[in-house]
Amino acid sequence: MKKTPVGVLGATGMVGQSFVRFLENHPWFEIAWVGASDRSAGKLYKDATNWRLEGSMPASVAGMTVAECVPDAQAPELVFSAMDASVATEIERAFAAAGQTVVSNSRNHRMESDVPLLVPEINADHLGLLKAQKLRRGWKGQIATNPNCSTVALTMGLAPLKPFGIRAVVASTMQAISGAGYPGVASMDILGNVIPFIGGEEEKMQQETQKILGTLAGDHIEPLASHVSAHCNRVPVVDGHTVTVSVTLESQVTAQDLIAAYRTFTALPQQKGLPSAPVPAVLYLDEENRPQPRRDAMRGNGMTVTVGRLRACPVLGWKFVCMGHNTIRGAAGAAILNAELMLSEGLISR
Ligand SMILES: NC(=O)c1ccc[n+]([C@@H]2O[C@H](COP(=O)([O-])OP(=O)(O)OC[C@H]3O[C@@H](n4cnc5c(N)ncnc54)[C@H](OP(=O)(O)O)[C@@H]3O)[C@@H](O)[C@H]2O)c1
Repeated sequence: MKKTPVGVLGATGMVGQSFVRFLENHPWFEIAWVGASDRSAGKLYKDATNWRLEGSMPASVAGMTVAECVPDAQAPELVFSAMDASVATEIERAFAAAGQTVVSNSRNHRMESDVPLLVPEINADHLGLLKAQKLRRGWKGQIATNPNCSTVALTMGLAPLKPFGIRAVVASTMQAISGAGYPGVASMDILGNVIPFIGGEEEKMQQETQKILGTLAGDHIEPLASHVSAHCNRVPVVDGHTVTVSVTLESQVTAQDLIAAYRTFTALPQQKGLPSAPVPAVLYLDEENRPQPRRDAMRGNGMTVTVGRLRACPVLGWKFVCMGHNTIRGAAGAAILNAELMLSEGLISR
């Protein structure tokens, strides 16, 4: 199969580098264009980028010239966005207006009523918003987004329980330092410490969870009819966000019913065999001390969300632990899976 050329907006940054790495040898996509700020534009990617990831910079991209983030004739139809949030709104809109499909990891458009906030295993049908988006905005292109990194782990942990009627959720995170980008949290602040504040994170987790688990209603999403409360903490872990969750379910169920729901959870990306879809999407572990970020974050090439410790909660009914790789499942890997879904649904031309 001929590969689809793709671009990366913000390719020189931390998340941009993850896109570059994950797209190397991708069976469907091939990087043909990289964009960044005017500090980098005109330079070779290898000279503009301080490569922070394990392994070498892919040679196929190292020699590319970084472009300005403007939708000119060179930019491919499909662009991934890892733009700095301070500039993502206008730049992503300019590309969508010019006819590009923007698959964004930035927070800027996630909560817009006509923009899909996708977790392909949970709400692939929310792609139905794109028609209304194009009509309302008069765009030839489109924008789809993936959630905040901690929200992906939480929603994947909740999705198998949705058929039982989710009515209240209290989630506490232990979030890895890599989620703060580079150089992130100062070592003097985080080593041997816990920081019980991540700006804007609790609000994002609460709102995004309700949208992702909500229902498509024509040109908008009806949010999940459940209260969601999040406590977000930064901990001295390198990769992998752990979330402890208490949940109230409408149905009378047993622990065996819920564990069976995790074990039998299957979804569209796995049924379609999308290249980045992990099997299983959600892995329930029986061990009483799992999941753990060091041991479980890389399951399914970093795309599987691991769940464990399902037990009764004396306050809300049930409680469990879930964990996902924040820079893979929670960032570049999530966006690439979104694009694979969109391509397979005919929403992006090959
Ligand atoms: N870090 C994470 O784990 C993580 C996780 C989930 C989501 N996110 C989100 O992903 C996005 C990128 O985060 P990051 O950590 O990768 O940030 P970063 O390392 O600071 O990279 C930002 C990128 O945006 C480019 N940029 C900055 N100003 C620009 C401008 N005026 N015009 C065009 N390009 C510009 C930068 O180019 P130059 O190199 O030329 O300056 C760079 O490529 C943010 O929206 C962030 O919230 C991050």
